[in-house]
Amino acid sequence: MSRRNLSFVCQNCGAAFPRWQGKCEACGEWNTLSEEGADHPASPGRKPGKGGRLFALEPLTGEAHEAPRLASGLAELDRVTGGGFVRGSVLLIAGDPGIGKSTLLIQTAAALARANHRAVYISGEEAVAQVRLRAERLGLSQAAVELAAETSVEDIIATMSEGKTPRLIVIDSIQTMWTDAVESAPGTVTQVRGSAQALIRYAKRSGAAIILVGHVTKDGQIAGPRVVEHMVDAVLSFEGEGSHQFRILRAVKNRFGPTDEIGVFEMTGTGLREVANPSELFLSARDLGSPGTAVFAGMEGTRPLLVEIQALVAPTAFGTPRRAVVGWDPSRLSMVLAVLDAHCGVKLGGHDVYLNVAGGLRIQEPAADLAAAAALVSSLANAPLPADAVYFGEVSLSGAVRPVAQGAARLKEAAKLGFTRAVVPESGRAEAREPGLKVSDVTSLASLVADIAARGSPADKSRGQDG
Ligand code: TYD
Ligand code: MG
Repeated sequence: MSRRNLSFVCQNCGAAFPRWQGKCEACGEWNTLSEEGADHPASPGRKPGKGGRLFALEPLTGEAHEAPRLASGLAELDRVTGGGFVRGSVLLIAGDPGIGKSTLLIQTAAALARANHRAVYISGEEAVAQVRLRAERLGLSQAAVELAAETSVEDIIATMSEGKTPRLIVIDSIQTMWTDAVESAPGTVTQVRGSAQALIRYAKRSGAAIILVGHVTKDGQIAGPRVVEHMVDAVLSFEGEGSHQFRILRAVKNRFGPTDEIGVFEMTGTGLREVANPSELFLSARDLGSPGTAVFAGMEGTRPLLVEIQALVAPTAFGTPRRAVVGWDPSRLSMVLAVLDAHCGVKLGGHDVYLNVAGGLRIQEPAADLAAAAALVSSLANAPLPADAVYFGEVSLSGAVRPVAQGAARLKEAAKLGFTRAVVPESGRAEAREPGLKVSDVTSLASLVADIAARGSPADKSRGQDG
C-alpha cells in the first residue's frame, strides 16, 4: 500500500486527516486520531476504465408499493419501527453496554423463528454457548434461530447467500465486524464503516432485513456506529437507567416510519417484558400526599403517558442557588422559574430548585410546563396537590397557560387510570368528554399559584384534606 492511501481517522467522529495531529478539528476531541488505510475506492467487480452501465430513469408518478413489512411479534418494537422490519432495510440499535440489546434481539429473532421465518443471529462478542445459555434462561431454546459466532463480513455474506434468504439477520455488534476490503484493524472507524457498507449492500440486494447492534460511549455518543448512522435506514436508541427496571426504545431516525414513538420494556429475570401500559408502570411507586409532586398527562408519539413530576424547593444554604433537573429541559425550568417570579410573585432567587421526572423518563414536551410549575409551587408552599389530579399545559412568557395538542387523548388516559380531576388550559374543557373526570381550566399561571397557595394556608386546611 502506498503512503497516499493512508490517512488519520478520528475514532470519535470519523473525520479523516492527511497527517497526525493531537486534536481532531472536526469534533474537538484530543488523541483520537489513528492511522488507517483508506477504503478501496472502486466498487467491487468492476474493471477500471470501462464505461458505465445505462439505466432507466423513472417518473415520480407511478405505481407505489407499500413497503413490505415483517412484524416482529414484539408489539413495542413494531410500534417504534413503524410496523415491523422493511425488506432489505438496515436498522441500527444503539445503547450502553449491558442495557439489554442482545436480550432484545435474541427475543426478536426467536419470535420471528416461531412464526416460521428464517432468523439468523451472528454474535461477534459472545461464543455460541453463551448465546445458547442466555436463550435457555429466556425460555427460547426451542425456537429455530440459527446461531453463529463470526466476525468476518465476507464469510457472513457468503454463508447468508447460501440457501433461502433469511428474513432477519442480527449482527451483534457492528464494532466487532471486519472486512477484507479495508486495511485497518478491527474496531476502527474505517472498519466499522466498511463492514456496515458491505452488509447494507447485501441487505439491499437480497431483501433480508439486518439489525446492527452498536455500543455507545459513556457520553451518549454512538462512537464508531455514529459514522454508520447516515447509512442505515433507521436508528433506534435503547435507553434506561441502571437502577430502574424499565427500558425505552426510541427511534432517532426512521426512513419508513415515525420518530416520535417509544417502546417500553421491563427487564425481568426472564428477559425483556413488553409494557403495554407504561403509565401504570411510571405511576406505580407514587408517594401520595406529599408536597412537591404533580402528575403530568403527557404524550409520547401517539400514546398518552402519565408520569409524576417531583420538585424540591429549599432555601439556599450558601452562595449561588442550585438548579438541578433530571429528565426535563433545564432551560425550560429556568423559563418557568422566571415566569413564576415575574408574573406570580413567586421569588425563588434564594432557593435551591430540584426537579425530577419519576422513573427516569425523559420528557421533551413543553406541555409539561404546567405540571412542573404546580410541583414547584406545591413544594414551596408545602401544600400537597390532590392525589387524583393530572396537569398539562404550556406556559408562555407572559404567564398565560396555552393549549397543547391531543388534549382529548391525555384526558382519556387520565380517566382510564382512575384520576378524577384535570387542570388544563382553557380549550381543554371543550375536549372533555370523560365521565367521572372533573376538568378545571386555568388561563394563567398566577391563578394556579393562588389555588395551590390557598390549599397550603391554615385557613383552608379542611379543603386541603378533603381534596
Ligand atoms: P445484554 O442483553 O447482554 O446487554 P447488551 O447486549 O446491551 O450489552 O443484557 C445484559 C443485562 O441484562 C445484564 O446486566 C443482565 C440483564 N438481564 C436480566 O436482568 N434478565 C435476563 O433475562 C437477561 C438475559 C439479562
Ligand atoms: Mg450484547
